[in-house]
Amino acid sequence: MFAFFWLMLLFYSSLVTTQDLSHDYVLQGKNIIILAGQSNMSGRGGVINNKWDGFVPLECHRNSSILRLSAGLTWEEAEEPLHRDIDVVRTCGVGPGMAFANSVLAKDPSLGVIGLVPCAIGGTNISEWRRGSVLYNKLIQRANAALQGGGIIRALLWYQGESDTVIHKDAELYKGRLDRFFDDLRSDLMSPILPVIQVALASGKGPFIEIIRKAQLETNLQNVKCVDAKGLPLEPDELHLTTLAQVELGKMLADAFLQTVPLPVQSNAPKRFNNFILDFLREPFW
Ligand SMILES: *[C@@H]1O[C@H](CO)[C@@H](O)[C@H](O)[C@H]1NC(C)=O
Ligand SMILES: *[C@@H]1O[C@H](CO)[C@@H](O)[C@H](O)[C@H]1NC(C)=O
Ligand SMILES: *[C@@H]1O[C@H](CO)[C@@H](O)[C@H](O)[C@H]1NC(C)=O
Repeated sequence: MFAFFWLMLLFYSSLVTTQDLSHDYVLQGKNIIILAGQSNMSGRGGVINNKWDGFVPLECHRNSSILRLSAGLTWEEAEEPLHRDIDVVRTCGVGPGMAFANSVLAKDPSLGVIGLVPCAIGGTNISEWRRGSVLYNKLIQRANAALQGGGIIRALLWYQGESDTVIHKDAELYKGRLDRFFDDLRSDLMSPILPVIQVALASGKGPFIEIIRKAQLETNLQNVKCVDAKGLPLEPDELHLTTLAQVELGKMLADAFLQTVPLPVQSNAPKRFNNFILDFLREPFW
């Protein structure tokens, strides 16, 4: 009886150890992050006259622990520009996604693999993201595809609103439309308190920027956070964040995201359990 128990324990430990070392196992615990909104999320850092300068700061470098879901719905190692095959009408440059992922990894390596799901499209207004729209359906489809190989959707990073600053009525309706979008998304992703981290616009092409900012900063939905882009430098077009501004924004989003991550991190649980068994076996009782 004792020997049997002992064997079972050894078997279990070896099982967990092998799984722990396998890449598949780590992938199954992927932290899936959805990126959506307009051009600043898609990334225009380093884009001047419709050409990207190709500059990738250290904070945005590739890392084997950062993946990206391509337009063809396959996972690949992520690299800038993250939205190159998603937001295809304009030239993409650096957005906040890679800086976000690198910063999260640096601050909490125990999280494991980060799977980025780029979905942002430049110039889009909030109505174009409503439930049932092309963009909404595409987002849901990509999110579901992302879950196929295992993992958990950890957050939506949302940077949008510029297109809704032009007409007064749209600006007034923004808060309701935004809340509705978050609610619908959470319900369709079956994740009722999915963390949402959004960016408050610093300026806009339209006169009603303050109404939009107020809607973004004063959202009262649970687990919706807002970081403020005010003060971050813009490209000479005065319309898009620069590469270095995107790096800063990525770090701000990472800090806000890490506040939403429950501890202990789920992807680490089997390892901790394994250690627990080993500690248990070392007890004087045995
Ligand atoms: C990947 O990120 C981790 C955590 O920041 C870091 O320790 C590691 O050196 C990085 N790997 C590469 C190849 O940059
Ligand atoms: C949003 O964009 C669509 C497509 O460009 C346009 O038809 C619609 O009028 C816009 N709506 C708002 C509220 O700006
Ligand atoms: C990009 O973000 C900056 C900073 O928030 C904002 O001023 C600008 O209007 C945004 N541009 C677009 C096209 O969303």
